[in-house]
Amino acid sequence: MSSVNEIRAVLAAKYARVKTSGTREQREALRLAVEIIGAAQSRPALGKEVSVQRGEVRTCVFFDEVPFINVLDHRNPYLAVYYRDMVEPKGVVPNREKVTISFKAHPFTDREMELFLGVIEYLEPLFGEVNPRCKFSSAPIPIEKWGANTLPEDLAVYRQFIHPLIVGELSNLTLTPGDLVCELACGTGDLLADLRSVRPDLSYMGSDLNESGVQIARSANPGVPIHHADARDLAFLDIGTVSLFVLCGLVNESVVTKDDARQILLQVLSRAKKQSYAIITGRTPPLLKEVELAELGFFPLLATRWSQYGLLPFYVCLTPA
Ligand SMILES: C[S@@+](CC[C@H](N)C(=O)[O-])C[C@H]1O[C@@H](n2cnc3c(N)ncnc32)[C@H](O)[C@@H]1O
Repeated sequence: MSSVNEIRAVLAAKYARVKTSGTREQREALRLAVEIIGAAQSRPALGKEVSVQRGEVRTCVFFDEVPFINVLDHRNPYLAVYYRDMVEPKGVVPNREKVTISFKAHPFTDREMELFLGVIEYLEPLFGEVNPRCKFSSAPIPIEKWGANTLPEDLAVYRQFIHPLIVGELSNLTLTPGDLVCELACGTGDLLADLRSVRPDLSYMGSDLNESGVQIARSANPGVPIHHADARDLAFLDIGTVSLFVLCGLVNESVVTKDDARQILLQVLSRAKKQSYAIITGRTPPLLKEVELAELGFFPLLATRWSQYGLLPFYVCLTPA
């Protein structure tokens, strides 16, 4: 790979959002975003106090310079240009405990929000990574607590907000019939079933360490090999065979440790085809930051997506050539 143009050409062939960069729609979206952000910043910052679980207040930089603040809420997510004076609990916050966080920010008007969200599809590649507020501490949840026992509120977030984003992202990737898609930690297999219904021409495989989840996933996906296996050892996959790995809620806080996350990702690299894809997402940000993913060899094409719930960590990565 010798020139910037060659790199651009490869990226454009690999990811539709790159292909569209610089189109009239994208330039128009950016122009509108700059106008809306400017209007919000020209009004005085307002104080806001929220009672949330840890991680539900998130900051994220847009276009390398505009800090945004987001409060997750599936009825009415809050998104504003971040200003200052964040007051948040010190130390570690127990899982699922409500905490009070206050800050000052420049909110959008309803009309501005409507306009911004109307073009956010073109703006998502310009968002940096999501940074949740409040420290996370919990050790991974024991494996028997997953599967059929997954908390209903967790399931709702995954099914309602995250899975549709993953399914939608398929149309931005270059995948040809027969290519192998592997979902690690597929839980009860809902996402695999959704992916299969949109791209029945691809091959699929799943795995999870929770046995009850694997049983349910098998019945939801007849004919698809679903392995009862630990993602730290992908011996059930041949080297260099997978065109798309999906890791939704696996290399995340409360699921595995950071060392495990690294080991899983190294295994993914060994089983991935050259210049193939990995989608890494979840309710909480992955244990490895964007730069750490890049150091391992995951070239990030995208870091963040917007859903009706709020800003979600959503990495679309290219594996090495
Ligand atoms: C948050 S759930 C995500 C489930 C599914 N990917 C989805 O999007 O609905 C986390 C899953 O990771 C699985 N898991 C945790 N540690 C694992 C490991 N080391 N290897 C494989 N699966 C694991 C759990 O059994 C659970 O099904």
